[in-house]
Amino acid sequence: PRIAVLFGGRSSEHDVSLMSASNVVKAIDASRYEVVPIGVARDGRWFLAQLDRDGALPKAVPIGGAEVALVPGGKGRLIALPAGEVPFELPRVDVLFPVLHGPFGEDGAVQGLAEVADIPYVGSGVLGSANAMDKDVAKRLMREAGVPVARGVTVHFGVRPTFDAIKAELGLPVFVKPARQGSSVGVSKAETAEQLDKALAEAFRYDRKVLIEEFVDGREVEFAVLEAPDGSLSVSVPGEIAPAASHGFYTYEAKYIDADGAALRIPADLPDAAKARLQEVARSAFLALGCESMARVDFFVKADGSALVNEVNTIPGFTNISMYPKTMAASGVPYPDLVGKLIEHAVA
Ligand code: DAL
Ligand code: MG
Repeated sequence: PRIAVLFGGRSSEHDVSLMSASNVVKAIDASRYEVVPIGVARDGRWFLAQLDRDGALPKAVPIGGAEVALVPGGKGRLIALPAGEVPFELPRVDVLFPVLHGPFGEDGAVQGLAEVADIPYVGSGVLGSANAMDKDVAKRLMREAGVPVARGVTVHFGVRPTFDAIKAELGLPVFVKPARQGSSVGVSKAETAEQLDKALAEAFRYDRKVLIEEFVDGREVEFAVLEAPDGSLSVSVPGEIAPAASHGFYTYEAKYIDADGAALRIPADLPDAAKARLQEVARSAFLALGCESMARVDFFVKADGSALVNEVNTIPGFTNISMYPKTMAASGVPYPDLVGKLIEHAVA
């Protein structure tokens, strides 16, 4: 079978996707599957890329490969449109593996395109992807399902709450986040009216909807959820992220730029009862959002043992420092098996 791996993408997590996708490509069993790497440039053009001799993806897109635009042709087909030349049909793709993070890749957009093209794909469907990407919608759905979440105020562009209202509702400091982004892009902490203005301006660069959330003092603990083709869910051991004190919180820089930005502890040190309880909550969050196949559920665990779900990622990072594959590996599903299971789920 042919697996088209989509990488890059239009979101601000383009570079993260390159790191994730090269790991995914390396983990695909080359004796069973043929990889068709498809780069999505920052401007949204799709490119047929080529793996280098070591099986690695090109460092950036577009590089190498035919510089052609690709459009869905239905029934698993992709039509190549070379500039100024005759369009041609690519060999049929059996599975699309979108290794794209953030808007247009993780939010249901590419999933919709795959549905229209009638190509089975890895990961959640249109609605589950969209629900999880939108922190405002996700919060409502989880709250309704009894999943504990942080208190927050949703702010629409052009309708700004006053600092005093926010302070009264959420206390200080607060976190300000674009509703639909990943990797902490556009996220900042605010403690004064001036900082709140600045934080809102920053978040509104990325989205017209922004979330202001109460500050939660807790450890960052994450679980990987994997759905088997029969619908049963397995939840990994917990992993903990300890961001270096110098970064304040787990920022984009702490994640991907600064090699010592954070330490991962797998498994996280949690009492067995707490672990089992959070695994159950992770399951509920996965189902509440309508996720399928895989998701990473991120918690804050407070000193008193109470916990809340911070967010759910439907295409979690697969980079060298990423928690999803690491916690799955620590739970008995090594990287190549994980990728194989995800592909099997897609075609099931
Ligand atoms: N958004 C990044 C890739 C993650 O959740 O791992
Ligand atoms: Mg995220």
